[in-house]
Amino acid sequence: LYRTNGIAAACATALLAFGTLAFAHSGATGVVKERMEMMKEIGSGMKVIGEMIKGARPFDAAEAAASARAVANHAAMVPSLFPEGSTDSPSEASSAIWEDWDAFLELSDALAETGLQLATAAETASDASDIRAAFAATGRTCAACHEDFRIEK
Ligand code: HEC
Repeated sequence: LYRTNGIAAACATALLAFGTLAFAHSGATGVVKERMEMMKEIGSGMKVIGEMIKGARPFDAAEAAASARAVANHAAMVPSLFPEGSTDSPSEASSAIWEDWDAFLELSDALAETGLQLATAAETASDASDIRAAFAATGRTCAACHEDFRIEK
């Protein structure tokens, strides 16, 4: 399921993605709004850690661990925030989610798992380079799911 591009490349992609987050949720209601806000929060958590890795923010192990834990906790909410057929405008959810629900769940589990690994790595890290690989792995799950299940508008 995961593309096997190098950690450095994935990391660079992740940094780019989180540095320039665009949110499309204005006008959203109900569960679509809820999950867009949830995605926005995990985006913010990743951005904090990405900035530490980039050197744009001082490395703080506790803050990185808390951000990673928030990402993992939000991942656990993913399945319940995607009831079948919930694609009301301005949702970017692809109907492929419900055609391939198991693959979608697998990616949300992977996000929870890699997010926890990132939190664990951050807890014992002495500088940002210690969490680079775990950050890239988390970022790859975002990219993999968006590629298959999000139609960017
Ligand atoms: C299991 C699949 C999945 C994973 C994993 C995932 N996303 Fe998403 N993401 C989606 C889907 C589907 C949408 C579109 C939801 C909608 O518009 O209804 C989305 C939308 C978004 C949005 C746009 C929110 C808005 O306001 O429009 C951001 C930002 C985002 N994701 C960030 C992330 C980040 C960062 C990660 C990894 C830490 C991540 N996502 C992991 C499926 C996923």
